[in-house]
Amino acid sequence: MIFQQTLHVEQLKSDFPILAQQVHGKPLVYLDNGATTQKPRRVIEAMNTYYHEYNANVHRGLYNLSAQATHAYEESHRKVAEFIGASFEEVIFTKGTTESLNLLAYSLGNTLQPGDEIVLTQLEHHSNIVPWQQLAKRKGLVLKYIKLTPDFHIDLAHAREIVTPRTKIVSVAHASNVLGTIAPVKELARIAHDNGALFIVDGAQSVPHMPINVREIDCDFFAFSGHKMYGPTGIGVLYGKRHLLERMDPFLFGGDMIREVHFTHSTWNDLPWKFEAGTPNIAEAVGLAAAIDYLTGVGMRHVQEYEADLTAYAHQKLSSLKGITVLGPKGARGSVLSFTIDGIHPHDASTLLDREGIAVRGGHHCAMPLMGLLGITGTVRASLSFYNTHEDIDKLAAAIIKAQEVFGV
Ligand SMILES: Cc1ncc(COP(=O)(O)O)c(C=O)c1O
Repeated sequence: MIFQQTLHVEQLKSDFPILAQQVHGKPLVYLDNGATTQKPRRVIEAMNTYYHEYNANVHRGLYNLSAQATHAYEESHRKVAEFIGASFEEVIFTKGTTESLNLLAYSLGNTLQPGDEIVLTQLEHHSNIVPWQQLAKRKGLVLKYIKLTPDFHIDLAHAREIVTPRTKIVSVAHASNVLGTIAPVKELARIAHDNGALFIVDGAQSVPHMPINVREIDCDFFAFSGHKMYGPTGIGVLYGKRHLLERMDPFLFGGDMIREVHFTHSTWNDLPWKFEAGTPNIAEAVGLAAAIDYLTGVGMRHVQEYEADLTAYAHQKLSSLKGITVLGPKGARGSVLSFTIDGIHPHDASTLLDREGIAVRGGHHCAMPLMGLLGITGTVRASLSFYNTHEDIDKLAAAIIKAQEVFGV
């Protein structure tokens, strides 16, 4: 394949030490990248170097080690900003997408009034549902959900119907972790803004797979996780437009996020530190910067093109198997393939595939409302990365056939 040559996939794969291992005596085929991606050597080494050579707290010490740690920590914000087309002040480090969305629900929630409406879609991950549900309960707000079309796209006509001047927030997943649906975020931003609402994008499943420019999308906020983009766990990002972040209340209070503290009151630090209370995840920020360097080296356009080709191949291959139903849009889609196997529960399928060295996820994928809508309790999900190959997909297909033989279906 042309993109495979462009990417030198086998060479890239060798950058990930974990992928060289065997599982149950079979070479590991890792297809659970939607849950978390593996880490290239460069990320692991960057974090090791931090602990070996310049571990110190940031923003506090005037000595050399602390200056080095502070520089690396701030440099990581700069790299993230550049990676998504934002400015330095607009990039807040959190624990992950979940915390970024909770921060928004808390902080934006302070400005909402009973009867105000929040609009989500039917395919959201729990982390873009539950924080808004809790807020709605506390403040007497109304939650609405944009429907999916029969071919699993976001129904823009329905969005235009339910987003009204009563809507204060529209929050959507850029790429579905179950269906692979890519939300038309630019159109949704326009619909939200035309009605005076803020537009939030959950980019957990898009940032690792396509070039992102938050200004082109014109979203007000954008949330994502380091561990799904080849970086470490424990670090994520909230991008917000500067003028909005400046007006918002902090979410967590304590050290680092203050300018002055008096016995009676306090004032807040400049952006982005106003939203980063306490000692941050410094090693993880260093690892995230290394992941961004790595991805930039590979090239996000190449990643997108290669994965589109691989996803189309996997979609066609899996759809051709008997008893398999692949869910989600048929054309352009994210690199996630959820499917059901007639007569085999997703958990049993995942266990049998594991015996063949294939790591996939089976279950509801933190999208129980969507599962209910689809009339199922779960799916098997293969989620791809640029280090996966056509051979990996062939092995997956062969292992599914073997599982069907075991079950006699
Ligand atoms: C679409 C989507 N949003 C949010 C999340 C939550 O990410 P995290 O667990 O890293 O906070 C996930 C994780 O699977 C996801 O797929």
